[in-house]
Amino acid sequence: WVLMVTARTPTNIAVIKYWGKRDETLILPINDSISVTLDPSHLCTTTTVSVSPSFDQDRMWLNGKEISLQGGRFQSCLREIRARAQDVEDKKKGITIKKEDWQKLNLHIASYNNFPTAAGLASSAAGLACLVFSLAKLMNLKEDNSQLSAIARQGSGSACRSLYGGFVKWCMGKEENGSDSLAVQLADEKHWDDLVIIIAVVSARQKETSSTSGMRDTVVTSALIEHRAKEVVPKRIVEMEDAIQNRDFPSFARLACTDSNQFHAVCLDTYPPIFYMNDTSHRIISCVEKWNRAEETPQVAYTFDAGPNAVMIARNRKTAASLLQRLLYNFPPQSDTDLDSYIIGDKSI
Ligand code: DP6
Repeated sequence: WVLMVTARTPTNIAVIKYWGKRDETLILPINDSISVTLDPSHLCTTTTVSVSPSFDQDRMWLNGKEISLQGGRFQSCLREIRARAQDVEDKKKGITIKKEDWQKLNLHIASYNNFPTAAGLASSAAGLACLVFSLAKLMNLKEDNSQLSAIARQGSGSACRSLYGGFVKWCMGKEENGSDSLAVQLADEKHWDDLVIIIAVVSARQKETSSTSGMRDTVVTSALIEHRAKEVVPKRIVEMEDAIQNRDFPSFARLACTDSNQFHAVCLDTYPPIFYMNDTSHRIISCVEKWNRAEETPQVAYTFDAGPNAVMIARNRKTAASLLQRLLYNFPPQSDTDLDSYIIGDKSI
């Protein structure tokens, strides 16, 4: 027999960034972060997990290619989930799995991203969240999404925020064992559904410096990161929570843009410096800034993760249409810029 579960998890985009760890193994961050979860029909991971007594080892395929499961992070997630596994009974198939059996049974995991892997589009976030969620369903875990987020966190920090739709906060927590470092939902997907997200894929190539090694170097070498984590982000988190609750777009846009810019500033302050944005990214920022300044209030927020791709959040559909027009005019795809395509998405599930 084979027992299977399939789940789909969207990616999330941080509007107050996570950058820097206080514990590398448990993946505990040096500051809180806030993200918005995308609609799963646009950027998501779909994962099928299966178990059968005929499987002789744990195996995993990503986008059809077998990958190693030896990494410490995968193993931590699997260990944490197996430790919480419950009895499972499928009456139709006549299958009973006792909780202690999960330690011996092997798993096959097949995962697909519908967007470029490791191009700074938070593929690890959707991937690890989906892995943890689907395994938790297969093994009948009793934990709620917040408790599952603490397991997903150990796979990749940003993954913990993909367990919820809408606006999500990853609370850094105080405990050394990481038990209080988990995600909570600030507002659900219906709360602010005017927002439209447009992602300009400036380059779908794999990034040169992974987030993991980049943030490690920043923590060790940047003189600015401590100021960011201790002084700047705590205030921004409070202001961002207010902006989200009040659907206050001007504050939301100011906070998201300045936080993205500060994140890239600490990357530049890292030694050797890390450049995630390129000339096209900078030109997109100038274009949005110029437009926002020409209007009475800001129309669009931008944010860039560990790559050159621009994530833009328009205040409503009308603004999004106008943004798209401006982008197509200024950055025609297939011209001498390396802008590959545009992905348009709603904000949430
Ligand atoms: C810039 O979650 O990919 O996207 O925890 O080492 O796996 P690890 O890093 P990762 O870092 C994401 C960094 C970011 C900002 C964010 O998503 O908050």
